[in-house]
Parts: sequence; C-alpha cells; structure tokens
Amino acid sequence: MITDISEFINRVDGAAEYIRSVLSERGIPSVCIVLGSGLGPLSKMAEEAIEIPYKDIPGFPVSTAPGHKGSLIIGKLSGKPVFMMNGRFHYYEGYPMETVTFYVRVMGRLGVKALLLTNASGGINLEMKVPELVAITDHLSFNAEPVLRGPNISEFGTRFPDQCHVYDPELTDILVNSARDLNIRISRGVYAYSKGPQYETPAEIRALRVLGADCVGMSTVPEAIAASHMGIRVAAMSCITNMAAGISGNALSEQEVLDNAALASENSCALVKEFVNRLNI
Ligand code: HPA
Repeated sequence: MITDISEFINRVDGAAEYIRSVLSERGIPSVCIVLGSGLGPLSKMAEEAIEIPYKDIPGFPVSTAPGHKGSLIIGKLSGKPVFMMNGRFHYYEGYPMETVTFYVRVMGRLGVKALLLTNASGGINLEMKVPELVAITDHLSFNAEPVLRGPNISEFGTRFPDQCHVYDPELTDILVNSARDLNIRISRGVYAYSKGPQYETPAEIRALRVLGADCVGMSTVPEAIAASHMGIRVAAMSCITNMAAGISGNALSEQEVLDNAALASENSCALVKEFVNRLNI
C-alpha cells in the first residue's frame, strides 16, 4: 500500500520523464496496448519501433511471469503511434497492487487516453469455445486486494470512483464491431479476477458462474481499476484458452493456455490492429 504520496508521485513522474526524454521529438502516443498471452507477435509488427527494457526505466518493476517479456515498445500500428507493454505485472508474482498498476499510472501521467488490455482466461460460460475472444464488459473483483486502498492520490483521481463504466462502452463497441467485420468470433462477457497463481477449484468456478462470470483470469482488473481512476478509457479483450476448472474434466495446465493463446494469436493481432485503426483518440 502507498504510504508516502509524494514519494510515489515522484517515482511515477520520474519514469514518465525518462520515457518522455527517450521519445524526445517523436511525441507521446495517446494509446497503450498491453500484450497478454498470444499477443506477443504484435510487438514485432510496430513500425518505426523503439524498445525500452523495463529495467532501464527508473522505478519500473521487472516482470517474472513465464512467456511475458519486459519491455515498452513505442511505434506505429495501423499508422498510429502506440505504446505497447510487452509484459505486465501480476499480483501472484508477489508485487503489491501499486506495483502491478505502476505502469498504468505512468501512462496516465504521460497523457495516454486509451488503454487496451489483453489477456488469456478460462471459459466459465458453457457456450464459449476455445480459443474464442471475449470483449470484457464488466468484472468481478470481490476477492482482489483493493487496488486503491490507502491514501487517495487526488492528482490521479477521486477517492470513491464510480465503477459503472470501467470498460468504456464506445471502445468496447469498436472492438466488437472490428471483430465482426473481420469475421472473428467474439462475445461480450464478465471477467472474474482470480488472484492466482493456483487455478481455481471446480467449486469456485461453479460459484463464479452463479455470480455472473463468463470467464476468469489473473490480470487486467487491477490495471482497469487504476486506469479508470485516472480517467483513462479502457477496453479489454480476453482469449479463452481453456475451459475453467471442472468443466472438461481435465487438469488445467499452463501449456494448454500458451498453446491455445498461440492458436488465437493471428486473430488477436489482426483485431488489435483494426481496433487501433478505428480509434479516434
Ligand atoms: N483461470 C485463471 N487464469 C487463467 C485461466 C484459468 O482457467 N486460463 C488462463 N488464465
């Protein structure tokens, strides 16, 4: 939890200042895309790209999750300047929530207006088929460590932020319409946050289904909360890489998640490109 507000703001602003200095006269993109499982290839598709390893950015954490790289890419996608986070930070890695969401704060201070979060998740809704895509419209985060606990940083946002539109309806429509026009199957769904790193139990999945969840995963929600706290518009896309615990009768494995994320990769990357192409931000 943050205790010293000015130290934290200085750390965020120090990281932002470093990124600004590297970009110098290139200008600051207004869109940031977080590359979850299966989206890695997008990092190679940016034109005129610059790559900054997280370890070079003062105050930035370094991601440890398998399959997650650790660099910020600045380049053009569909002709538009974007930030791409190639690797994110998860609570299960041992970071406190202010570290998990640190990059979001930095993006906010840099003036980023839209954040596209992508992830892999387990399907809870029985209509879902691996490896389809889901546009996240809302989330369940009852069991998450509260992201905004501690003294509020009023420079970032309000003490009690409304949560009715954490996922921006207009951006979500752009995502869904882009998928439809590309003939990519997508549904809208509620994402349940799981702290991990263990997968859920079958009983937890049955409970989450009753509560209205369509899919479950270990990322995205803290970042979406921090971003919406700062007034950054959020869209989120999930790839159903496996049916959640207890549904298929098989044990869940990281390999299944990575394999199915890779199967969806071409569609996921094409969809993100088209989403950016249609953004008017
Ligand atoms: N549960 C939690 N996180 C996940 C899953 C899952 O079934 N699949 C991919 N990420």
